[in-house]
Amino acid sequence: MKRDIIAGNWKMNNNNAQTKELIKQIAPLVKDAKCEVVVCVPFTDLDTARRAIRGTNIKLGAQNVHWAPKGAFTGEISADMLLEQKVEYVIVGHSERRQYFGETDASVNARTKAAIAAGLKVIVCIGELLEERETGKTAEVVIRQINGAMAGIEKADLKKIVVAYEPVWAIGTGRTATPQDANDTIAIIRKAVRKLYGKTAANALRIQYGGSMNAKNASELMAMPEIDGGLIGGASLKAEDFAKVVNY
Ligand code: PGA
Repeated sequence: MKRDIIAGNWKMNNNNAQTKELIKQIAPLVKDAKCEVVVCVPFTDLDTARRAIRGTNIKLGAQNVHWAPKGAFTGEISADMLLEQKVEYVIVGHSERRQYFGETDASVNARTKAAIAAGLKVIVCIGELLEERETGKTAEVVIRQINGAMAGIEKADLKKIVVAYEPVWAIGTGRTATPQDANDTIAIIRKAVRKLYGKTAANALRIQYGGSMNAKNASELMAMPEIDGGLIGGASLKAEDFAKVVNY
């Protein structure tokens, strides 16, 4: 049985003191969660978060990783550096990285492969833009993105991957995909994965929904058969809201 996974994506928020405090508030509220609980924090908060989650059921995540083990890549962080901080999950290919930092399907693939090879688990983000949705290109876009992200990845490594389907128009906008729309698009993604790896592996893959998922709509989204978790931005910055999502 696969286990649902709810991950907070803090983005570029919270200093060390705020990190310590937020995790302290979250921990007791999520201790009985049925799902896996992850917080993906800024690099500079990893050490603080690592200490704060000790003895809790919260797992540590980062928000990006480079594909090279080391070298002249100013501003980047390697998988081994993350492992040294006891990071378990890393987000790759978030739409903000694709939009503002030139991330492509190829770089997402390279980062994913390096992270897996080093022993990290990866949350691979995909999702269509508003104009792509409005012009009926959603399926084409997510299939291209999932095939691109998975290129050259062995079937045995699929269990180290979580896919986050995040329609870009729903991120930080308060506009959520309807549970049915999210479910339908995730079914399309899963079908593409089935073509690559077969039915058993595709069914075992956890696919999250992300995009304005919050305390109010989480239970409805999580009730959909194709949705195996959530990647939570804004609502992950408030302990009570995040806990409500986790305890959907
Ligand atoms: P949001 O962000 O929940 O604030 O829409 C989700 C994400 O970007 O992962």
